[in-house]
Amino acid sequence: MEYNVEKIRRDFPGLDRSFYGHPMVYLDNTATSQTPRQVVEEIERLYYNHKANVHRGVSSISQEATDRQEATRRRVAEWIGAGSVEEVIFTRGTTESINLVAASFGQRFKEGDEIILTVMEHHSNIVPWQLLAMRTGIRLRVVPLGSDNSTLDFESYRLLFNDRTVMASFCHVSNVLGTVNPVSEMIAIAHSHGVPVLVDGAQAVPHMKVDVTALDADFYVFSSHKMYGPTGIGVLYGKRDLLESMPPYQGGGEMISSVSFGGTTWADLPFKFEAGTPDFIGIAALHRAIDYIDSIGYDAIYRHEKELLDYAVDGMKGIEGMRIFGNSPHKSAVISFLIGNAHHYDTGMLLDKLGIEVRTGHHCAQPLMRALGIEGTVRASLAMYNTKEEIDMFLLALRRIAPMLA
Ligand code: ALA
Repeated sequence: MEYNVEKIRRDFPGLDRSFYGHPMVYLDNTATSQTPRQVVEEIERLYYNHKANVHRGVSSISQEATDRQEATRRRVAEWIGAGSVEEVIFTRGTTESINLVAASFGQRFKEGDEIILTVMEHHSNIVPWQLLAMRTGIRLRVVPLGSDNSTLDFESYRLLFNDRTVMASFCHVSNVLGTVNPVSEMIAIAHSHGVPVLVDGAQAVPHMKVDVTALDADFYVFSSHKMYGPTGIGVLYGKRDLLESMPPYQGGGEMISSVSFGGTTWADLPFKFEAGTPDFIGIAALHRAIDYIDSIGYDAIYRHEKELLDYAVDGMKGIEGMRIFGNSPHKSAVISFLIGNAHHYDTGMLLDKLGIEVRTGHHCAQPLMRALGIEGTVRASLAMYNTKEEIDMFLLALRRIAPMLA
């Protein structure tokens, strides 16, 4: 079936903007994607007609809300190939999911234990482990980039494992380089040492089919707002035996079995990790975002984004002074670049004046910037609704501003 990008765009009214008299070209999808009307209409419908708290009693309206939330949990579980619905925990986002694992699973680690991270991690997969290190005295070991400055040094990864290693945590896709890491092999290596793995899938799930069981990931985390869903919702997948062995992360309503001042007992999974009232409307609307992605299909999305990525990179290579960071053969639709020695901020500002919306800066990946010997980049990141015409506008803008920046 032909990929009908114009039909897709009609579902995203947020794309219909202009800046400084230029139609907007939205190329900051790695930061957050736009949201289709199917998701927004669901949120509106639920707020107007169906607002009731979840798990709070026998009333019909509350029961409906509970059913909707649990239907989304089943949908997520089936969509990511989880072994059971109890293995899906709703959080506020990728960051909270990682903090939850570091704070709760991390309680078993002790001074001298080692956790393996990589230099291409987003701060959300670095700082929670540093906080844990401050509390427990664990050590963080970091996999460097290979000589291509794009992929991980796989040999270093292998060699970092030793009998003190207790955990490995790495991204599926780099938010700066677009590199798709060989997570399946990386997990297998960790498991051969008996080490559990957390995979940060925030930049993978919007672009590719993820099957946590096939990957054999112990924990897999992602955010709704990057995959066309509502903001403020995240998912933590965890293997049941690990989640069952973990103490609660936060205390409050919903996560208890019974409370007394003499002692409190915890609810079963998944509620043990869901203290307080969740964003039940956002969670229900996430269901529509998953339906939307499935209605287009990951294969079609991948082909479309890859075509645009190749077209953009080819065009950029012809621009004087262009420096692209991230040349992995397995690359998601993220292009980080600099023009000559121009500051990323100046490039981003000039692009903005032409309606091209990109992100500039360190992209919450300062260790990676240091490894690359730069302060920041300009980053253009694509989604299912971007068009070849938009890439042409982006390239035209780059050609206009490059001589000014040289
Ligand atoms: N993690 C998001 C990004 O890379 C915010 O822009």
